[in-house]
This record gives sequence, C-alpha cells and structure tokens, in this order.
Amino acid sequence: MAQATTATSRDGTDNHFANYIGGSWRAASSGGTFENRNPANSDDLVGRFAASGAEETRAAVDAAAEAAAGWQRISAIARANILHKAANLLEARAQEIGRELTREEGKTLKEGIGETGRAVQILRYYAGEAQQPSGEHYPSMNPRTLLYTVRDPLGVVGIITPWNFPIAIPAWKIAPALAFGNTVVFKPASLTPLSALRLVEVLAEAGLPPGVLNLVTGSAADVGDPLVRDERVAGISFTGSNAVGASLRITVAERGGKLQLELGGKNPAIVLADADLDHAVAQVIAGSMMSTGQKCTATSRAIVERAVADRFTERLSAAASALKVGDPLRDETQMGPLINAEAVERVSGDVDRAKSDGAQLVAGGTRLADNGREKGAFLAPTVFAEVDPDSHLGQEELFGPVVGVIPVDDIEQGLAVANQVRFGLSASLFTRDLAKALDFVQQIQAGVVHVNSETAGAEPHVPFGGMKGSSSYSREQGKAAREFFTQSKTVYIDPPPASVSNN
Ligand code: UN1
Repeated sequence: MAQATTATSRDGTDNHFANYIGGSWRAASSGGTFENRNPANSDDLVGRFAASGAEETRAAVDAAAEAAAGWQRISAIARANILHKAANLLEARAQEIGRELTREEGKTLKEGIGETGRAVQILRYYAGEAQQPSGEHYPSMNPRTLLYTVRDPLGVVGIITPWNFPIAIPAWKIAPALAFGNTVVFKPASLTPLSALRLVEVLAEAGLPPGVLNLVTGSAADVGDPLVRDERVAGISFTGSNAVGASLRITVAERGGKLQLELGGKNPAIVLADADLDHAVAQVIAGSMMSTGQKCTATSRAIVERAVADRFTERLSAAASALKVGDPLRDETQMGPLINAEAVERVSGDVDRAKSDGAQLVAGGTRLADNGREKGAFLAPTVFAEVDPDSHLGQEELFGPVVGVIPVDDIEQGLAVANQVRFGLSASLFTRDLAKALDFVQQIQAGVVHVNSETAGAEPHVPFGGMKGSSSYSREQGKAAREFFTQSKTVYIDPPPASVSNN
C-alpha cells in the first residue's frame, strides 16, 4: 500500500485524504479516490478520499487485532489521559473543524461548530467514565472467597456512522469503545469523511498506539460489507437507515457478533390546548428544521388538540416560511441545504405523494434555486396540515425539512396516534398540566421523552436510543455505553491452602 505521512497531501489543486491504518496514513492500494462536495455549492470540492475495499479493510482489522491485547492491558487511567488530550486538541481546532463540517454536511455554522464542541464534551465524558467503577463485589458461599465481576472489552469493534452528525456520532461510539479497552475499525459515511478524519487525527495526535484506531473510507459495499462479515470483529455499532439495520441484524447475528443499531424515527410532538403556543411553535420549528430536518430525532409529526390546531398551524407555517435558507457558512442563514441533490429528489417525491394523499400544503414544498442557491440542494421548509396519520407522511421517516400537523380530539387520541408507528425514538409533549405530562411519560413508546422541549438533542452523559423499530434495544452514551462495549467476567479468588501438602 502506498504510504503517506499525514492525512492530507496537497498537490496544489485538490486535497487528497488517506486512510489511517496501523498508525500510518495510507492511500487506497488501487490509488482510487472518491469526491466529497459541498451540498450548498456543487462546484466546491471539499476533498478526495481513499476509495478503499476488502484489502484495506482486512489490513485495518489485522492492525486492530494486533493492537488489541496491548490496549486492553494498559491502565484505564492511561486511556483516559489520551481521550483528555484529544478533547483539548479538538477544542483548540473547533472553529476550523466546525467550519469544515458545515462545508461538507450543510448544517449551519452554529450547528457545525456546536457539534464539534459536543464531540469535545463526549471525549471528556468518556475520559471520566473510563475511571469509574465497573464491576461488583459479591458475598460468596465460602467466606474467604473474593467474588467479583469485571467488564472486559469485546476486542476489535467495527464502527459505521452516518453523515448527519459527522463528528458527534463517531465520537460517541469511538470514545467509549476506546475508553473501555477495545480497538476500532472505523468506516465513516462517504458523504462526510472529512469530519471523521479530523476526529481520528486528534486521537492519533493525542498518542493512541498504532492499530488502536483505524480509519477506512469507501463505500458500504466495498468497506462496510467486509467489515461486518469479518469474524475477528466482535462488535458492530451502526447508526443509519432501517434498511441497512435489517440486513446487519442477519449478517452479524449469523456469525455470532454483538450488534448495536440506532435507526430511524417518526417523532411526534403532541401540543395540548393549554400549552404556550409560541413556545411550542418555536420548539417544533427547531425540532423539524434544524439540520434541515436530517436527524433521526427530528420532529416530523405535530399532533395538536383540535381546539388550537388552526392557530398552531398558522403560526408554524409563518415561522417556517420566515426561516432564512441559504449558504450555511453565512452567519444569517438559519437552514442550509439537504445532503445532496438525490435527497432533494427523494423528499420532493414524498411531498408530491403527501399532496396526492390529501394532506394540505401550507408552507414550502418547493425547491429553492435562486439567489445563489442554484448549485445547492435546497428545499423550502415545508409544513402540511390535516395529515392522515395512516398515510405515507404520517408513517414514514422523510429525513428532510417537512413536518405534518395531525389534529386530534384530546391527549388520549394524541397518544394513540403518536404510538401507531413502527418507530419509537423520541417524543415531546407541550402542556402546563402535570397529570397529563405524567400520563404521557408513562404511555409514550419512545426511548427519549421530552416535556415542553423539542424531540432532538441528546446530552452525552445519559442513555440514548429508541424503542420498537428505532434500535436494537441497546442504548448508547452515558453509562449505557459500557454495556455494549464490554462483556462481564465473573472472578472467584480463593486463598491457597495454608499448608502445602503435596511436596
Ligand atoms: C441529536 O438529536 O442531537 O442520527 C442526536 C441521528 C441520531 C442522533 C441525534 N442518532 O440523528
């Protein structure tokens, strides 16, 4: 394999970025590359990345397997120190890396820099978490037996991440994997490999031994597939679509691997008649339109008590129409593009389908290709009223800036509608009524539940994940991360007999 000493080799025209395998930056052996373009301006080439395949993936697993025993044996405190150092390095570069994130993903600069700061916070959290107690001490039938549990790492883990949180999701999977003693092969989304590479860069610079963290860029078919099939990879953590999740359930289970899935959502915000409507509108706008609606935690259904449905819808559509949509690198922009032109195609098709299913379009629904938006993947913030809960729009995740209002008679009907989807990631209720809030918390089928705040957002120190079709029952982040990235070992230690009898 061709070898380079840094992540980037500048040839004067383009930036070429390499894989990171066994502690060195290496181009794909074929020399092949793929392009990463700015979704706000297709003329802007962010970089070229190694188009890797089975050979590079195998080399990365070789390196991770070789490094596993050494990494497991060094102390958790030493591992924590490296995560701390990486956090500091990332923090020092947060403005620059956040800007790159915005350029390759399209979320606003505030969100891009904010997400980079979140990755810093995640690294710090796991540096602390690595030093927390992890096992339990038990009494034994034999009073002199020392009986306890410890958590061992899984070994080599494969981490496959989506493009919509290109640095935060890699951080919240890689940081706990490393903190608890695993070695990692990391395949980031091909639409946003630069943010992923920056995270690897700071971790490498912080002093990770060679082979502990390996980055392989390339397609799902060429890199993801051999990675999930490799029997040496004990665990796979994946965030992405339900379709890919469904195939991973089979592939990874068949070979006996451990699997963690974070999949889609169709997240409801129930708005009751007693709620502060302006607050509810602002939160539903944030939940549905920030990151251009491309979060698995995005609010995509506003389930509103009929008494206030018209007033709510009017204010929601006015607020959506007022959003400034454009180049996310500009300070005044409130919503950037979708991830690419195909996404605009797909979501536009879903908008047409909603119209023909009888939903009433009250804001947006159109592509935006004027005023400097000619070369970007822009779609207007879109609001539908009178959405049939059983329709495509009422049931399926669109992953775009589209929210549908569903009027209901009361909270009972609201809860029934909220729960009648196959997903169960996050949910919100807007009310001043404590009894109704408590009923909602008890009856809603969602892994993350909010009262009087939007459906998106996840603090790093608490468990995150969905019910039903939104996950594989495991949770990420907080103390839950240790569950996935380690396995339990039960230890009985008895004193040797007091007198030696056989010699
Ligand atoms: C958030 O809401 O800030 O891919 C995090 C996603 C989720 C993460 C959401 N796994 O959108």
